[in-house]
Amino acid sequence: MTDSEYLEKTLTDGASGGLKKSKKKQKRENAWRPEGPRDPFAMLDSLPEKEQQEIQKALHLFSLGNSLPKTLQQAKKHTYRFWDTQPVPKMGDHITTHGPIDEVDANIRNEPYLLPQGFSWDTLDLSNPSVLRELGHLLNENYTEEDDNTIRFDFSPEYLLWALQPPDWRLQWHLGVRVDTNKKLVGFIAAVPAEVRIYEMKKRLVQIKFLCVHKKLRLKRMTPVLIRELTRRVNQQGLYQAVYTAGIVLPTPISSCSQWHRPLNPRKLMEVNYPGLKQNMNLQRALKFNRLPEVTKINGLRPMNKEDASGIQSLLEKNLCKFHLSPHLSLQEVKHWFLPKENVNDTYVVEADDGTLTDMVSFYTISSRVLNHPVHTDLRAACLLCVVGNTTGVAELMQDTLVLAKSKGFDIFCALDVMDSIGFLDNLKFTISDKSVHYYLYNWKCPLISPDKVGLVLPN
Ligand SMILES: CC(C)(COP(=O)(O)OP(=O)(O)OC[C@H]1O[C@@H](n2cnc3c(N)ncnc32)[C@H](O)[C@@H]1OP(=O)(O)O)[C@@H](O)C(=O)NCCC(=O)NCCS
Repeated sequence: MTDSEYLEKTLTDGASGGLKKSKKKQKRENAWRPEGPRDPFAMLDSLPEKEQQEIQKALHLFSLGNSLPKTLQQAKKHTYRFWDTQPVPKMGDHITTHGPIDEVDANIRNEPYLLPQGFSWDTLDLSNPSVLRELGHLLNENYTEEDDNTIRFDFSPEYLLWALQPPDWRLQWHLGVRVDTNKKLVGFIAAVPAEVRIYEMKKRLVQIKFLCVHKKLRLKRMTPVLIRELTRRVNQQGLYQAVYTAGIVLPTPISSCSQWHRPLNPRKLMEVNYPGLKQNMNLQRALKFNRLPEVTKINGLRPMNKEDASGIQSLLEKNLCKFHLSPHLSLQEVKHWFLPKENVNDTYVVEADDGTLTDMVSFYTISSRVLNHPVHTDLRAACLLCVVGNTTGVAELMQDTLVLAKSKGFDIFCALDVMDSIGFLDNLKFTISDKSVHYYLYNWKCPLISPDKVGLVLPN
């Protein structure tokens, strides 16, 4: 049975066939069901939100959640029904060459992949505010940040437009799935164009973003259909490679990095029991340990403005080529990704006395909702996008960045151990979390890349 057929069967047969069913209809359908345990998802669903959360927490504790591999060891024992059919390196392959896995296919199918009856593709026009809101709703309710369901992402419309509409973005690559009867958006995946340097090769490809399936339609093989359809749409535009990241292990990471955290507001993080924060100390000690200077130290450090774009472009061009995986940005892309936007991203540059830009640092904002907490409702994380500390030194630049982020009300600073991060993570009191971020290339093979040779961060 293909993934599409399986999806069709489970969606039309089973308990989650539609998202809303009348009680009468449910009763009729249940009549033929054998006696026995009820569908656990349906049971969970019928409970009040707070109880659902408690159960999810317990499941998380006992690791009965999503069983996809989180480590390479687990991955070696896992059978990837879908990924084993895709042009990606097999787990355990030792790759020493560079190039595409599949040659260009001249016969790209014209018709979209079939969705099961009752569901349709919808290309999302994000310039329509109500569509943008719907996407935000799908992601904010279903793109759960933590398995135990205590904190959820809260992507704003501005953030989504920043992430999904860089220069040359394409409407056809914002791919949604809707339920025919009520038009509810239940699945999404996006691609955005990019040029990436992979070792010595500059490659035009896409970055994959925001893969999300509604919680009630999980484990029904909708993901492979979404990926196939998006791949077809990308291929139609003459692109055959993609770069993406995931927290789970799929065939086959080209690099595996760790997420590091630096508390800016330790009191709040302790109060919301921020997951994965490994600073085992009492509040007084945490406040003292994480204290930061009130003001920045670097002369010439200031927010980026439009006129800085070409200076930043050449700074990046010079500095990112030392990595084996890095973005190659046009002037328009530099403006798009780095020009500060309220609650979306911040960029600071260091300007020398002669007006040249010597260093830069940029981070983006991930806002979250804190669920069912008596005091706190939200959390703001600053996530490092890029840092170039040529003249100043990366540790000094990051120290000032922490001061700035704290003064802007961020609760935590997050960074991956990529680029030159290793030069400041320990010194600036970042702690490693148990979260890994694995980097993948679709239809491209190349030797593995160590985290310090990765110069690319992909915002969600
Ligand atoms: C990620 C998500 C879409 C997977 O949905 P699902 O219902 O668990 O999985 P499905 O039954 O639809 O599909 C299973 C297949 O998708 C693959 N898959 C699961 N998560 C994936 C991911 N993040 N990227 C690529 N493939 C993924 C599985 O490996 C499996 O393929 P296999 O048989 O080769 O192993 C869903 O869990 C979700 O929306 N999670 C919240 C958002 C999120 O974490 N998105 C991913 C960000 S990287």
